[in-house]
Amino acid sequence: MDLKGKNAIVTGGGRGLGKAVALALANEGVNIAITGRNEANLKETVEEIKNIGVNAVYSVFSVDDESAVQAGIESAVEQLGGVDILINNAGIGDFGSIEEMPSETWEQVIKTNLFGVYYAAKAVYPFLKAKGQGDIVNVSSTAGLKGGGNMSAYAASKAAVVSLSQSMMAEWRKQNIRVITLTPSTIASDMSIQGGLTDGNPETVLQPEDFAEWVRDILKMNRRALIANGSIFSTNP
Ligand SMILES: NC(=O)c1ccc[n+]([C@@H]2O[C@H](COP(=O)([O-])OP(=O)(O)OC[C@H]3O[C@@H](n4cnc5c(N)ncnc54)[C@H](OP(=O)(O)O)[C@@H]3O)[C@@H](O)[C@H]2O)c1
Repeated sequence: MDLKGKNAIVTGGGRGLGKAVALALANEGVNIAITGRNEANLKETVEEIKNIGVNAVYSVFSVDDESAVQAGIESAVEQLGGVDILINNAGIGDFGSIEEMPSETWEQVIKTNLFGVYYAAKAVYPFLKAKGQGDIVNVSSTAGLKGGGNMSAYAASKAAVVSLSQSMMAEWRKQNIRVITLTPSTIASDMSIQGGLTDGNPETVLQPEDFAEWVRDILKMNRRALIANGSIFSTNP
C-alpha cells in the first residue's frame, strides 16, 4: 500500500525506536507528528523529518496524564490536518528486584507503559472511526510474553499492553482499524543500553532502523491484511 500523504502520530518520537519509525514513515511520504516530554529533542527531530520533505510537527505531553494526552493528541491532529496512523511507542524501562524497587517506581512504570498506550489510543480512536479506517501500532515487548527477574514492573506493564491491544483489535477491526501488537526483543537504544541489557553492537544487535523497517512494511500491507501480533529478534546477539 502507498503510505504517501498519510498522517501519523508517533509517541516518544523524539529519540530511540520512535524516532527511527518517524523517519522511516517520512521517507514513505507520511506527514509526522512526534510527541514526548523533551521539547528540545522533539524540535531537533522535527527539523530532521522536515528535511525529508514532509510536514512535521510536535506536541509536548506526558503520556501518564489523561487530560494532557487528550489535549496533546488533539493538537497534533489539528496541526497535521487529520490522522491515519498512531504509533503507540512511548515507554520507560525501570529494572530492579521486587524487594528493592519502590512502589512509586513500580506504579510509574505501569502508568506510563500501560495507561499511556490506553490514553493515546482512546484519544485517536474517534478520529479513525470517523474516517472509517486507520492503523494503531502498540509497542509491547518480549518481556510482555513472559515475566523475568528484576523486571516485574516492566514485564507486567508490557503483558497488559498485549492484552489491551488485543482487546482493541477485537473491538475496532469492525471499523476497518488495524490494531497491531508488537513484541520486539532487545534493540539498541538509550533504554536498553543504559539499562545494561545490551552493548548495542551494530554487528549483532537489532538497531532502531531494523524495527522501523519492520513497522513500515507491516503498515504497507494491503488493508485487507492485518498482522495482529509479531516479534523480532537479533539473529545471534
Ligand atoms: N529498546 C528495546 O530493547 C525495546 C525492546 C522492546 C520494546 N521496547 C519498547 O519500545 C518503546 C521505545 O523504547 P526505546 O528503546 O526507544 O526507549 P528510549 O530510547 O528510552 O525512548 C523512550 C521514548 O519514550 C518517551 N517517553 C518516555 N516516558 C514518557 C512519558 N511519560 N511521556 C511521554 N513520552 C515518554 C521518550 O520521550 P521523552 O524523553 O521526550 O519523554 C522517548 O522518546 C518503549 O515502549 C519500549 O518499552 C524497547
